[in-house]
Amino acid sequence: MMTSEPYSAKLSKTGMLLPYNTRTERRLADLREYFSDKRAVEDALSKGENPLIYVVYEISRKTEGELNVGCTIIYPGKVGDEYYFTKGHFHVKEATSEVYIGMSGEGLILMQDKEGRVFIEEIKPEMIVYIPPGLAHRSVNTGRTELVFLAIYPSDSGHDYETIRKRGFAKLIVERDGRPAVIDNPNYGRD
Ligand code: PA5
Ligand code: MN
Repeated sequence: MMTSEPYSAKLSKTGMLLPYNTRTERRLADLREYFSDKRAVEDALSKGENPLIYVVYEISRKTEGELNVGCTIIYPGKVGDEYYFTKGHFHVKEATSEVYIGMSGEGLILMQDKEGRVFIEEIKPEMIVYIPPGLAHRSVNTGRTELVFLAIYPSDSGHDYETIRKRGFAKLIVERDGRPAVIDNPNYGRD
């Protein structure tokens, strides 16, 4: 069996994981196919606006049996009336699960199975969310501050972004009367 070095890392409530070996940032242009209000996306981009939506700091490994640890910071904001969110993905290796640990801010996690059944849980400090095998997951910042959470998942899970990019989630999380509301996605399943 391959052995890997133990480590410890510093995790702050602002989402910094130190040391990390991967930093991924996603801006509006990276998410143009994901937000439902295409006009709002194109308006912003045509004005030269390309805001940072989220950043992930990760300590990743490669071998089966290991765990990746990643901290996500989703900035507060909306595109049209849809709150900023992560792309969302299924795991390529279906029999893998994941745990999210809320660090700061408030948000929701949308989970969805292959049949389009949706499950929603809160992400906030002092709460964990368990994502069982087979569910796609997307995190949404419904608050006015940064949403920060830690994710722990098997290193060989893999990310399938294509299914969600093409089909979307069956539900959208939007602001209605100043508050988050879950609505049906009128474009769900349209490739
Ligand atoms: O492992 C996870 O599920 C998270 O660390 C996500 O990768 C992270 O929140 C970013 O989301 P996505 O990978 O959908 O862009
Ligand atoms: Mn995942």
